[in-house]
Amino acid sequence: MTKEPGDSTVHSSVMSKEALEYLNCSAGGRYVDATLGGGGHTQRILEATKPDGQVIAIDADDAAIDRVKKKLSSYEDRITLVRDNFRNIKEVLAELNIDKVDGILFDVGLSSDQLDSTERGFSFSRSARLDMRMDRRLEVSAFEIVNQYGEEELASIFYRYGEERRARAVARAIVAAREISPIETTEALAGIVEGVLPKRRHGEKKSHPATKVFQALRIAVNDELNSLEEAIRDGIELIASGGRMVVISFHSLEDKLVKGVFREFATGCICPRDVALCACGRLPRVKLLFKRALSAGAEEVLANPRARSAKLRAIEVI
Ligand SMILES: C[S@@+](CC[C@H](N)C(=O)[O-])C[C@H]1O[C@@H](n2cnc3c(N)ncnc32)[C@H](O)[C@@H]1O
Repeated sequence: MTKEPGDSTVHSSVMSKEALEYLNCSAGGRYVDATLGGGGHTQRILEATKPDGQVIAIDADDAAIDRVKKKLSSYEDRITLVRDNFRNIKEVLAELNIDKVDGILFDVGLSSDQLDSTERGFSFSRSARLDMRMDRRLEVSAFEIVNQYGEEELASIFYRYGEERRARAVARAIVAAREISPIETTEALAGIVEGVLPKRRHGEKKSHPATKVFQALRIAVNDELNSLEEAIRDGIELIASGGRMVVISFHSLEDKLVKGVFREFATGCICPRDVALCACGRLPRVKLLFKRALSAGAEEVLANPRARSAKLRAIEVI
């Protein structure tokens, strides 16, 4: 039986050792953990920056903030918890009168606390009202998208964010089903998707046929890719020279985005090769700490299967 998260977290942090190593924290430094979740990484940063390091920890989810407030109460004077979307990182720091920080960590996606919570409607394996909002103040949940968006728009979400090849067929089936009655639950939606994309035969890859559609909906509800891109771009401007940014992501669309933005900021002169003197004057703003994304080690993946798809990238601001 899966534990239902309540006051305590069931989330195991992913790639903590690597995240801490590349964040290169030191006592007296000021760091942002942009994805507080269960507070595991935040706690490690607090420990690594003893006795006086400061952490500003952000999460859009009120439940995460409430849980960690209790869990990390002994660090009260060194931690500031902020409930906001990390896309507002500039405003969050301005509000706290902070100009520059020494490092920012992103560990994006969902926590196990969110996935395991029936009421949040993130998982097709738990019957719940379709929701999927990380921030429950958002006006549009998965229910509105599934029941109100047009067929074309649904197909585009499933194709773009889920890379679902049969996106059109799934969208068509959803529109047909909701003409009979609204699609209220995760179970109902998973059933409709299964009708279009039958379960894979025994022995083939085991992912549930609704995996991609649920991922796509979650990304759309929370505008995840745009939020991440805005936060990385603004975050780089907020890091002091020599400071670092570390991003851990869990699917290829996110990693592609991180790689692209990091490369853009790491690129200097863009003049044509045959020009003898640089005319663009462009200088690299960051240094890539390594070229290929790091993955979790075999031991960690064995202990925590969620780590299997993690990719970690890191940069240093010049
Ligand atoms: C994978 S968990 C982080 C786990 C955390 N690093 C730990 O060690 O426990 C991701 C967390 O980031 C939050 N999150 C995801 N996207 C966000 C966004 N755009 N703004 C704010 N929080 C976000 C989620 O609500 C979730 O709690």
